[in-house]
Amino acid sequence: MKKTILLTGGLGYIGSHTCVVLEQAGFRTVLLDNLSNSSLSSLDGIERILGYRPVFYDADIRDRGAMASLLKSNDFAGVIHFAGLKAVGESVESPFEYYNNNIQGSFVFFEEMERTGLRNIVFSSSATVYAADNTLPLTEASKLGTTNSYGTSKLTLEFVLRDLVSAKAWNAIALRYFNPIGAHASGYIGERPKGVPNNLLPYILDVAIGKRERVGVYGDDYDTVDGTGVRDYIDVNDLAEAHLAAIQKLLASPTTPLPVFSPSPPAPLLSEEMGAKSSFQAINIGTGQGTSVLEMIENVRLASGKSIPYAILARRPGDLGSVYADPSLARELLGWEVKRSVREAVGSSWKFVHDNR
Ligand code: NAD
Ligand code: WQD
Repeated sequence: MKKTILLTGGLGYIGSHTCVVLEQAGFRTVLLDNLSNSSLSSLDGIERILGYRPVFYDADIRDRGAMASLLKSNDFAGVIHFAGLKAVGESVESPFEYYNNNIQGSFVFFEEMERTGLRNIVFSSSATVYAADNTLPLTEASKLGTTNSYGTSKLTLEFVLRDLVSAKAWNAIALRYFNPIGAHASGYIGERPKGVPNNLLPYILDVAIGKRERVGVYGDDYDTVDGTGVRDYIDVNDLAEAHLAAIQKLLASPTTPLPVFSPSPPAPLLSEEMGAKSSFQAINIGTGQGTSVLEMIENVRLASGKSIPYAILARRPGDLGSVYADPSLARELLGWEVKRSVREAVGSSWKFVHDNR
């Protein structure tokens, strides 16, 4: 019998790609989303790829009644918890919206999971949980710290899950994504930001299709290859495969502890040793390679054949010059590593945007 996995935020960018990868690996997925940052066109895209339509619930994780009945009426083996708001700037302006949706929403959802005895969870965390003053590459032992309420929501939920592991014998993996880009090779699903894109690649793609005039490059005086900001861009298809590996790891031996992670030197916010019975594990999901803003612009130019006007602007407040992962723990614990290059990822993003203009 196929095991069923619930994907909260399953119609979003990363959730939709993960749904396809899980289904193709022999899982059954059930998708839950309140459509606040997605639409049913993702479900249409998934159906075109798979040839069938996974079960979808239009519901909000904060709706306790809906969560209780959804969890009771299905036999889920595990959850991948993507649902959440993710715009850093917006989170600074509206912290309570982020606490309410991401933290309070997850509290409701976790409580209902616990009530039905569902304790296997992969959680969407982020590289944003790392403090600004770390040396690179970032490892899971790097110092933690946040500067905005989006980041605070992610770090808080990591701590909550760690508590649930020790108090209630949950099995939890937090995947700390770096910068996801790319789309499914079919061009049927991909990233569809509403309004002005917050992230670099969607913005450059808008310029490539003529929707926006030029890219504003936030600073060219960083200590990087060409002075512009460097990030670790990870293909969403590789990222989806990391979720498959994580859920397989959780389900393979739900009561067997994962190797105990003891940060060295101890990260201030994770200073307690995790208990021997703990199976909470935070894992970086990145490539280990950095790419600059100008290199990304060049990648889009090559993929699209369009010239990409840009203007150098002041640094964006709060930005770091370089951020990239040490992804070796993911290889060690999940047997996962990236298969696709940044250039391929930019190519699939361009195809998605071009095909769906
Ligand atoms: P996304 O916005 O495309 O997907 C999130 C989905 O959750 C959306 O479809 C949205 O409608 C849904 N949602 C939001 N609040 C909900 C609620 N209360 N109830 C039910 N559904 C709700 O974002 P994504 O890029 O696919 O990100 C998925 C997860 O990964 C998020 O938690 C995000 O914070 C995290 N993450 C994303 C990135 C990134 O750059 N894309 C990086 C690191 C971490
Ligand atoms: C990338 C680079 C910018 C836009 C954010 C979140 C993080 C995570 C991923 C969720 C930087 C530069 C950008 C533009 C630019 N999300 N840039 N012009 O800041 O690494 O991370 O998304 O967890 O939490 O903070 O990504 O795409 O915004 O920026 O020059 O119009 O591109 O300065 O160097 P970032 P980004």
